[in-house]
This record gives sequence, structure tokens and C-alpha cells, in this order.
Amino acid sequence: MANTILVGAQWGDEGKGKIIDVLTEKADIVVRSQGGSNAGHTVIIGEQKYILHLVPSGILRNRKKCVIGNGVVVDPVGLVEEIRMLEDLGVKVDGKLFISDAAHLVLPYHRLLDAQREDHKGRKKIGTTKRGIGPAYADKASRTGLRMMDLIDPERFEKALRERLKENNAVLKALGAKPLSFAKVHAACRAAGDRLRPLVTNTVVLLNRALRQRKEMLFEGAQGTFLDLDHGTYPYVTSSNTTAGGACTGSGVPPHRIDRVVGVMKAYTTRVGEGPFPTESDELGDLLHGMGREFGATTGRPRRCGWFDAVLTRHAAMVNGIDDIAVTNLDGLDTLERIRICVAYKLNGKKLDYVPADLHQLAACEPVFRDLPGWQSDTSRARKWKELPARARQYLEAVANLVGASLGIVSVGPARDQTIVLK
Ligand code: GDP
Ligand code: IMO
Ligand code: MG
Repeated sequence: MANTILVGAQWGDEGKGKIIDVLTEKADIVVRSQGGSNAGHTVIIGEQKYILHLVPSGILRNRKKCVIGNGVVVDPVGLVEEIRMLEDLGVKVDGKLFISDAAHLVLPYHRLLDAQREDHKGRKKIGTTKRGIGPAYADKASRTGLRMMDLIDPERFEKALRERLKENNAVLKALGAKPLSFAKVHAACRAAGDRLRPLVTNTVVLLNRALRQRKEMLFEGAQGTFLDLDHGTYPYVTSSNTTAGGACTGSGVPPHRIDRVVGVMKAYTTRVGEGPFPTESDELGDLLHGMGREFGATTGRPRRCGWFDAVLTRHAAMVNGIDDIAVTNLDGLDTLERIRICVAYKLNGKKLDYVPADLHQLAACEPVFRDLPGWQSDTSRARKWKELPARARQYLEAVANLVGASLGIVSVGPARDQTIVLK
């Protein structure tokens, strides 16, 4: 399997958690390198459903190490809750989970600022998860952030928090919000710091030692390519680099040690939050929501739905260097008579075969569709390529050709075994 980066090739929620769980079987270490608890990765094992926000999905398998890298923003109180949830379900965390000492903290004022700023934006809101992600990365870039190494040093943390809270309370007050109490914030963070202290380490050194021992790593991307701060539909993006390059900066693993990039994509497209979405289709949305599908794992919001957009995923293949694609949720299309694929955009009468960086141009793009006949039968029981209906195979081949990458995995249901591994 070698060292693999797994990225979302659309707007997040592509089914990365499920594919990571499948690939973890062959990996030694699973690494998160960006994002925070805005992520919601679903893994279903038997009857049990797990939704992971910060802990790498590899935690659900025995004898795998999991790393929260330096590029992740960690909400310590939320992470302790997540660890408790896992422990209550019998999943051991100590000795398996390692947190970077350099990872930045998401503190209560970041969450509150995120919510306040969204509320103030009114119709111009981004539709964030309100998990404090933007304000935490802004502090990191402004060089005013606090890190895990500060949290686990009680004296240093108390002093730094007092200073930071003073400034942030002034901002909160200006936005019309109630200031936060130092005593309350400090007590909650202090308790979280005590629980997390044994898990905090220099993960850059840990990972590079593991590389020397020829351990195989799997990088669990969060969000998706078009939510990337640089390559996404700015400003309707998240605040980290969700594309393949982010895995290296966010972990300290050098680029030449990466062997393979897998791009996860749904057999159609979804998006949560605001921003342009050329292939959006209310008809497809109604169908999928009617089946009880496509509600957010983190916020429960209904996801916007649309047809497969090959312009988008081809662009994702370009910026990530995708070798293989994993196509998920094929079964979502089982009942359709006709399935549409967007093969190009039309802008002011001209054909466009890439995603324009200018949001206004993207919003004005009209999709050019190629229609394929649906297979109108159940794919969820297929376990081998040849068990898929011929028309489903044709659809998948068309997708892979249009994206310009090879078909590595097909997923036909949320469970571990509802997977066809082709390479
Ligand atoms: P992630 O954020 O990329 O890990 O994706 P989410 O977990 O937020 O959303 C994907 C949803 O699709 C979850 O509810 C998964 O259980 C589900 N899922 C993943 N693959 C498949 C599939 O092939 N078929 C079906 N029916 N559901 C899937
Ligand atoms: P996973 O890892 C889908 C979206 C939000 C919003 C924008 C900015 O589960 O695929 P943020 O809270 O990050 O500042 O919100 O990004 N968003 C996601 N959408 N899946 C995610 O993660 C997302 N994380 C953030 O809905 O539009
Ligand atoms: Mg998700």
C-alpha cells in the first residue's frame, strides 16, 4: 500500500471515513494533518455507527497508531469528549493516539467568534460548522495562537489564556456578545489538558522515525478539494489546505515519501453550506433526502445535492495528483432511469473544461451534461466488479475516464464489506 494520502475530491463528506477504515487494514499509522472538529467521518462496523471529528478513523482497528498532526486545530474539550465516547464503546485510545505538541488549540472564544461573525453576516454567511475553525487558524497565522504544548504546561497556559481572553473578550463585546468567564474557560481547558497530557508528543519525530522503520502511513484528509483555502471556492471554503500538499505541511512528512494519492468522490455531488454549485439539482436532492440520505454528520443539516461534476473532479485530480479514485454511494443512483454527468461548463457561450477561480464566473457557469441510462437495480449486494450491473460499470468507467485516474475502489453501501476493491 505504501504511503497514501486520501483526499476528498468534491466539497467534503465524500465517504472518506468509510474508505479510510477499509484501507487502514493494510496501514500501520493513520494521520490527520489539517482541519479540526468541523470534520465528521462516519464509519459503520457491524451494527455500530461511529462519527469521528478529530480522532483518525484508524482508531477503530487494533494495533494501529493514530496521529493528530501539527496542522490540525484541536478543541481540547471536544477531543476529550470524543475520547470518552470511544472509550464508552470499548475502543482503547491510550497508547494508540498521539497528538502533536505543535497543534494549535481551538478555544471557547474561537467558537463564539465563529458563531457571532456568521450571525453578523446574515445572507452573506459562509455556513460554517461553527466549530471555531476559521478564528483558530486566523490566530495561528497572526502568531497569537496557543498550542498543545502550552495547554499541557499549567503555569504557562494560565498566563497565556488570561492574556488572550482579555483581547478576545473585547472583540466579543464589540460584536454584541457576552464576554467569557476566565475561571470557567480555564477550568474546562485545564481538565482537558490533564487528560490529554500523556498523549501529547513530538509527532514530526515520531512519524519520521516510523518512515525509517518502513511503516506504512495513511493520511486521512478532512473536508474536500473545493473547500481548500487556496484551491476552493473562496470565500466559501474552510481555513486549511485540504488538498494533498496539506498532508505534508500538516505532518512534517516530506513530499518525496508519498507514494500514492487516492481521491474519494461520491457517484454524485453534495455540498453543505453556502457557495456556488453548478450541477445542483433539487430533484436529485429530494430523491436522496427522501431515502433518508445526505444529512450532515457534524451539524445534521441537509446536504445540497447535484449530479456528478467531472469538471470539478478532473480539476481535483490535477491539484492533488490523484492516482486512484474511490467512488462511493453508487447505490444512491440505483433507482434512476437517467443519470447525468457534467462533462464541461458553458460560460458566456464558451466551453470551459476547468473550474474558474473567480467565484462570479463559476456561479455563472452552466453545466453541459452527458446522459447515461440508469441500471435500475440494487447494487448494494455487489462485492465484485462483475456483480455490478453492466450499466453501472459503464457509468463508473465513464467517470474514471473523465477524471483521468484509475478506478481503485467502489463503495455500494456504508458498511465495511459493501466495498469493491479493484487495486
Ligand atoms: P466523510 O466526511 O467524507 O467521511 O463522509 P461522511 O461520513 O460525512 O458522509 C458520508 C455518508 O455516506 C456517511 O453517512 C456514510 O456512512 C455514508 N456512506 C459512505 N459510503 C457509502 C456508500 O457507498 N453507500 C451509502 N449508502 N452510504 C455510504
Ligand atoms: P468532512 O471532513 C463538508 C464546510 C462548511 C462550510 C465551510 C466552512 O466531514 O468532509 P468551517 O466550519 O470549516 O469554517 O466551514 O466548509 N465544511 C464541510 N463540509 N464536510 C466537512 O468535513 C466540512 N468541514 C467544513 O459546511 O461550508
Ligand atoms: Mg463528513
